[in-house]
Amino acid sequence: MEQTPDTARPRPAGDTDYEATGDGYAAARRPDPRIAARVDAGLGDARTVVNVGAGAGSYEPADRDVVAVEPSARMRAQRPPGAAPAVDATAEDLPFDDDTFDAAMATVTIHQWRDWERGLRELRRVSRGPVVILTFDPDALDGWWLHDYVPELFGTEAPRYPTIDEICAVLGGTSEISPVPVPLDCIDGFVEAYYGRPEALLDPAVRAGQSAWQFADADAVAAGLDRLAHDLASGDWDARHGHLRTQPEFVGAVRLVVATT
Ligand SMILES: C[S@@+](CC[C@H](N)C(=O)[O-])C[C@H]1O[C@@H](n2cnc3c(N)ncnc32)[C@H](O)[C@@H]1O
Repeated sequence: MEQTPDTARPRPAGDTDYEATGDGYAAARRPDPRIAARVDAGLGDARTVVNVGAGAGSYEPADRDVVAVEPSARMRAQRPPGAAPAVDATAEDLPFDDDTFDAAMATVTIHQWRDWERGLRELRRVSRGPVVILTFDPDALDGWWLHDYVPELFGTEAPRYPTIDEICAVLGGTSEISPVPVPLDCIDGFVEAYYGRPEALLDPAVRAGQSAWQFADADAVAAGLDRLAHDLASGDWDARHGHLRTQPEFVGAVRLVVATT
């Protein structure tokens, strides 16, 4: 696909600078197959799909004709060999005609867009079928133990996300909203994926794949993680939450929105 670089475009395209921090994303944030199955079901029988904010290609169906849209060169570089072609553009200005695709999708990205409303309107415009959004419900983000340790993380995280009602209102038509259970051994390393593996959140390499941490006060984060390390060493964490180490799934804030016309 031929492209003229849009030099006037703001960079980074969203609230996280993947040119500076994106290395290692593909290793830390692999698509979890159980979540992928839900995204795939949402796409229905679409043959042609645009995946916006595609990153390294997580959740992109391999058996459909996909065009990816990804504004970060560092993220495009992490797409595996054979992945769908990736266009250097933003959600807010999709370089496609109306109704170009059977379906549009966006996974774990809309909270980063400069103008999520405009971006969602663009997804609706270029899809003649469903628009499938995998996101987090800001009203449900803080319903687990990490909030007891680092409340500041949730204070800065929730405002990044549109509410599920806002998403549905912008997409129009009929929306099906499903809570997405997070498996205990989830291989996509978003923060909530570690609900039953608390030690992992003490690992800076794990947190580096999670954009949330950069927005919270660094001293508050350090203090909260120190408290977590202390409670893990003393057994206090296990006394309160140890059942989560074997709880097969956790229904937290992950949501799938499938909007049809
Ligand atoms: C957390 S990553 C998610 C990537 C992938 N969809 C996934 O599920 O792993 C967020 C992606 O959104 C992209 N992004 C940020 N702002 C964007 C915008 N305005 N338009 C399109 N993509 C954007 C980033 O470059 C990044 O690749």
